[in-house]
Amino acid sequence: MKRLQIRAILLITLLITTTTFGKDTITPTQPLANNETLVSSNGQYTLGFFTPAGSNNCYLGLWYSKIATQTILWVANRDKPVTNSTGILSITSKGSLTITDSNSTAVVWSAGSTGLTNPVAQLLDTGNLVVREDGGSGNYAWQGFHHPTDTLLPGMKLGVFRTIGINASLTSWKSDNDPSPGSYTALMDPRGYPELFLYSTAGPAYKVWRSGAWNGVQISGSPDSSSFQGFVFSFVNNDQEVTYSYDIANNSIVSRLVMNRTGVLRRTAWLWETNQWTNDFWFAPKDECDNYGRCGPYGACDPNSYPVCKCLLEPAFTPENPKNWQLREGKDGCIRKTPLNCTGGTDGFNKVSNVKLPESANCTVDNSLSLDHCRAACLSNCSCTAYANADVRGSGSGCVIWISALVDIWLYVDGGQDLYVRVAAADVVIDVAVTTPEQSHKSKSSKLAVVLSLILGFFCLLLSVAFYGEEGKGEE
Ligand SMILES: *[C@@H]1O[C@H](CO)[C@@H](O)[C@H](O)[C@H]1NC(C)=O
Ligand SMILES: *[C@@H]1O[C@H](CO)[C@@H](O)[C@H](O)[C@H]1NC(C)=O
Ligand SMILES: *[C@@H]1O[C@H](CO)[C@@H](O)[C@H](O)[C@H]1NC(C)=O
Ligand SMILES: *[C@@H]1O[C@H](CO)[C@@H](O)[C@H](O)[C@H]1NC(C)=O
Ligand SMILES: *[C@@H]1O[C@H](CO)[C@@H](O)[C@H](O)[C@H]1NC(C)=O
Ligand SMILES: *[C@@H]1O[C@H](CO)[C@@H](O)[C@H](O)[C@H]1NC(C)=O
Ligand SMILES: *[C@@H]1O[C@H](CO)[C@@H](O)[C@H](O)[C@H]1NC(C)=O
Ligand SMILES: *[C@@H]1O[C@H](CO)[C@@H](O)[C@H](O)[C@H]1NC(C)=O
Ligand SMILES: *[C@@H]1O[C@H](CO)[C@@H](O)[C@H](O)[C@H]1NC(C)=O
Repeated sequence: MKRLQIRAILLITLLITTTTFGKDTITPTQPLANNETLVSSNGQYTLGFFTPAGSNNCYLGLWYSKIATQTILWVANRDKPVTNSTGILSITSKGSLTITDSNSTAVVWSAGSTGLTNPVAQLLDTGNLVVREDGGSGNYAWQGFHHPTDTLLPGMKLGVFRTIGINASLTSWKSDNDPSPGSYTALMDPRGYPELFLYSTAGPAYKVWRSGAWNGVQISGSPDSSSFQGFVFSFVNNDQEVTYSYDIANNSIVSRLVMNRTGVLRRTAWLWETNQWTNDFWFAPKDECDNYGRCGPYGACDPNSYPVCKCLLEPAFTPENPKNWQLREGKDGCIRKTPLNCTGGTDGFNKVSNVKLPESANCTVDNSLSLDHCRAACLSNCSCTAYANADVRGSGSGCVIWISALVDIWLYVDGGQDLYVRVAAADVVIDVAVTTPEQSHKSKSSKLAVVLSLILGFFCLLLSVAFYGEEGKGEE
């Protein structure tokens, strides 16, 4: 009797889970027709066909299951739609994922593998559509997360997968009703000291904004981004990949990073109470100084001064084109007052504090060098223009060396990093190797920083306890 009851309950739960969540997998014998969907086993994400308002085109897309206003997060066939017809998603017996026109059975899009023996395609809990051998786990022959559309979801990686030769970048939609590639792309430049760039491809491609490199804590051009509670940001730079990603500890927080149609890389979060997306969680470019190269080579952009452009370390650098500079046109930047004398070995360095480090694609990075050795390495190479710590955690470590003009520097009030700029002996103001008052000042201010962050940390803890009660404690 009891056993029967248990069985009945089990059966009912099984029925409920399958009916509420539907299937998450297709196989060669079970394709996905236009009016069907796949739902991830945690119920978070739905994959299915959609047709934008006012369009005759049908796309395979991903959206949040629980958010009523359909928000398309990923599109498989963004530039290969099914036109004037419905579509079917299938997987061939060798593992090739195809979208066919249900009227003509013509293949309009395909991806995946041709070397599998028992393939399935599954929508994972993260929203990643993967192709793999049935029963095989982490070893994916293909995955949607390697081919983002305009949205970076938690767990998705933005960057370059070196070994498989894939650039996972975000490109805006062409219009609200057309997911085909639009005018803006967020892309990782894996060279040197890697960083993200936002490009406009309307007309000749140009750089709109750069993120600054990952400094061990955050992307350096975005000093406020590491403080989102419950978010974990990651950066990987090794032989296999150079990627940026984030995760959210609390599943009830829904947030995404979108390369939007008007050229803004924007993080939004869903407000469950009002059923809306927040607008101002984080976005870039935001400030005049975010415009790439605003103040030219050896210029520095200070958002708190007017005009915003200054020469780095004035008077060691002076405007290249004083006439235009006076007219608030900073693009020509600045030049040295005194040329370097490399071979004489007399050059020195002036320190600039609280900066967004210059563009770093041409940099050389050596994580094993201390700051002193970094200085020596820079002095010994006539092309070297500046150096800095690669990682700011603790008292700083590693070495970045610039070997071309210093471009796109921001001056912050606080935050940012120290940059040591090479100047001729005549222009050296404070030589870091010589000055002692400066060092004692530094240790005093770092002590102050420790005390301040302790106070701040305690305050945050109080706040989070107040907000989240008993449950929230585990989150941090
Ligand atoms: C889905 O579409 C097929 C073919 O157009 C139709 O036979 C089937 O009844 C539809 N299923 C549902 C649930 O609407
Ligand atoms: C789709 O249908 C529209 C209107 O019926 C027509 O103008 C257009 O040529 C069709 N496109 C294709 C690719 O068949
Ligand atoms: C394709 O099929 C749809 C129904 O699935 C139908 O409404 C449409 O008229 C068909 N289009 C063509 C070009 O045959
Ligand atoms: C990735 O993008 C960079 C910069 O646009 C380009 O040089 C490189 O060839 C791309 N790599 C691949 C695998 O597409
Ligand atoms: C892009 O993001 C910016 C900043 O949040 C916003 O002002 C703008 O309206 C957005 N554009 C679109 C098309 O959503
Ligand atoms: C460079 O430095 C050396 C050694 O101090 C000196 O002899 C030489 O005159 C300097 N050259 C220039 C161009 O300043
Ligand atoms: C200076 O450093 C750059 C980058 O590491 C390197 O390509 C160049 O050969 C070096 N020059 C000298 C003279 O060592
Ligand atoms: C990197 O070096 C190349 C060749 O010298 C130069 O054209 C380019 O402007 C440099 N890029 C940066 C960001 O300094
Ligand atoms: C997650 O966040 C929600 C709303 O902010 C909160 O109610 C819930 O307690 C949090 N859960 C955990 C495990 O922190």
